[in-house]
Amino acid sequence: MINTMKRIKKTRIVPVIKLSSPDQALPLGKALIEGGLPIAEITFRSPAAEKGIRVMSREFPEILIGAGTVLTPDQADRAISAGAAFIVSPGFNPTLVDYCIGKGYHIIPGIANPGQIEQAIERGLTTLKLFPAEVLGGIRFIKAVSPVYGGISFMPTGGISPANVGEYLAQPAVAACGGSWMVKQQLLDSNSYDTVTALCKKAMKLVEAARKSENQE
Ligand code: 3PG
Repeated sequence: MINTMKRIKKTRIVPVIKLSSPDQALPLGKALIEGGLPIAEITFRSPAAEKGIRVMSREFPEILIGAGTVLTPDQADRAISAGAAFIVSPGFNPTLVDYCIGKGYHIIPGIANPGQIEQAIERGLTTLKLFPAEVLGGIRFIKAVSPVYGGISFMPTGGISPANVGEYLAQPAVAACGGSWMVKQQLLDSNSYDTVTALCKKAMKLVEAARKSENQE
């Protein structure tokens, strides 16, 4: 569990994926590895998620695989038994969060306001998905709440792109950013895996740049 968070915080970008078919898991896994971004949040927004997680985790043990858009305990169970290392939910659903904690699943729940941050703190969670980040105020939201809730880090997702990811990553309270820009469903559907690799490489350059400017401060 600790290793999972460490890896997310080290990679700093989590590609959010909607598979049209489990067959995309293999070429996608390869493209992520070649792009230097061996992490994937495969969302339960399509029926291909469970099998996709199973295939990717079997074929690419070096990829840290999470399940996204998890809405129910049943989906959480299916994701974990398919090989997911962590669960991400879009909102703060106490039933799902308590279930995952009870089962020992690593959950990063979505939050959208201080009340939900406090519900998460009450349960001992320290890394939370801020969703939908840009709609909620993005960096302004993070700057406003992080002095209040020390020790909480955020994974902003929703509206993050190469244009603003650097600014998010520069926030001390940001553990990592989620985003679909390098793994858009159209790219997978059109077999544009070279583009996925290229976009992952570019994303990792932005992470590197954020790291360098952090070190200079
Ligand atoms: C998510 O599921 O976290 C978001 O839909 C991803 O948002 P994006 O497509 O704006 O990156």
